[in-house]
Amino acid sequence: MPRPDSDPPLSAEETECLRRGIDEAMIRYAGAFTPLIVTRASGAVMIDERGRRVLDFTSGQMCAVLGHNHPDITAAIHRATREVTHLLSTILAPSVIRLCQRLGALVPDPLAKSMLLNTGAEANEAAIRMAKLFTGGFEVVSFGGSWHGMTGGAFSSTFSFGRQGYGPLMPGTGALPAPNCYRCPIRHCTDRCDTTCLEVGFELIDRQTTGAPAAVIVEPVLSAAGIIDLGPGYLAKLKTMANDRGYLLILDEAQTAFGRVGDLFAFERDGVPPDILTLSKTLGGGLPLAATVTSAAIEERCHQAGFLFLTSHVSDPLPAYVGLAVLEIIERDRIVERARETGRYLREQLEALRRAHECIGDVRGRGMLLGMEIVLDRERKTPAPELGHQIMDRCLELGLSMNIVRHPKAGSIFRIAPPLTIERPEVDEGVAILDQAIGECWRAGQSSGSKSGG
Ligand SMILES: Cc1ncc(COP(=O)(O)O)c(C=O)c1O
Repeated sequence: MPRPDSDPPLSAEETECLRRGIDEAMIRYAGAFTPLIVTRASGAVMIDERGRRVLDFTSGQMCAVLGHNHPDITAAIHRATREVTHLLSTILAPSVIRLCQRLGALVPDPLAKSMLLNTGAEANEAAIRMAKLFTGGFEVVSFGGSWHGMTGGAFSSTFSFGRQGYGPLMPGTGALPAPNCYRCPIRHCTDRCDTTCLEVGFELIDRQTTGAPAAVIVEPVLSAAGIIDLGPGYLAKLKTMANDRGYLLILDEAQTAFGRVGDLFAFERDGVPPDILTLSKTLGGGLPLAATVTSAAIEERCHQAGFLFLTSHVSDPLPAYVGLAVLEIIERDRIVERARETGRYLREQLEALRRAHECIGDVRGRGMLLGMEIVLDRERKTPAPELGHQIMDRCLELGLSMNIVRHPKAGSIFRIAPPLTIERPEVDEGVAILDQAIGECWRAGQSSGSKSGG
């Protein structure tokens, strides 16, 4: 795959004009924008307005699993623009039917039927609506720290941040403690979750329910909550406890499906297929494509009950061409195996950094969805929000884009998730930048005696 090493920079006037455009013409939807403007991206590399090469350890917003602008994805987009891009929502094109067939063949029984949407929030919204129709209930349980998207139903089951200031959310939402064994939510386990938090969580849910269960919706590796992998056995127990109470289990594999965690689907490790599976970010390889997948029995009951989820871009042919290309590349280029190998290597490098830098409290995660928690004091696990942001800023100056996921107690957890196609030398380059940035920021904090470093 061709990779840009550098590009001519934008002129000073052009850059100034764009910066003014940001101030004058753009709504700030998530705090401040990252201080670079990307003019081109390919593979794991972005080129900024200065013509500088910046390595991407975030896969964009976790969607560019196959790298930026993969030529086969570009070709699929071109093909769609020659054949068919958009239709009346009830008219189907071959690419849409084929992608649903393909997904049906990849998932285990009884999962079989799919609908194609655009975003992760939409896929979860559809899943929650199906669960409500199927069960006749309305109560939805998710994890503290979860992120399921910005639309009404999905956001009501999002407990990481952003709930204040927007008025009432959906009634009937509840939260289970996220099983974070580095910072056990019930102060019970260290290093390994024994699922006591799950039992405690359901004891509380059982007391709060009005007797109208609909769904438990969870991520198999919680991402926004701080890269928390559900330990072996947890998912099976969760499914049993949920189903016994009348909840359907919805697994939100927005970030984890299609190789990211070293399996095609994260639930494969546990052998626990959900009642409804939602797929998004990784399915579109950088384009907006999502799917809600369920069994024929659930689909039939919902259809009989009049299931409605009609959006402008449901079953759009263009993203379906892209989804087919993504699945083909994953199979042809052995992306799952490759992610497993690169993930193992990357983790070894991050463990080595942990040995070298006392401000790295924990390295965790699965496959190529890794977390690195920055602390001021390893013994006490003192959160280090400022230091983490200093490291992130320094990485960007040195040519590495990193992302901090927020956890209210921990402050700074890096989500380290490069494209699955990243080359070894690029991994080494990124880790070397991280090493330098951590060392410099930690030493600067020590010598100034500030909170950030010592
Ligand atoms: C696990 C998970 N589910 C759902 C979503 C929402 O996806 P989208 O932003 O495409 O609506 C996200 C987005 O970050 C996510 O991480």
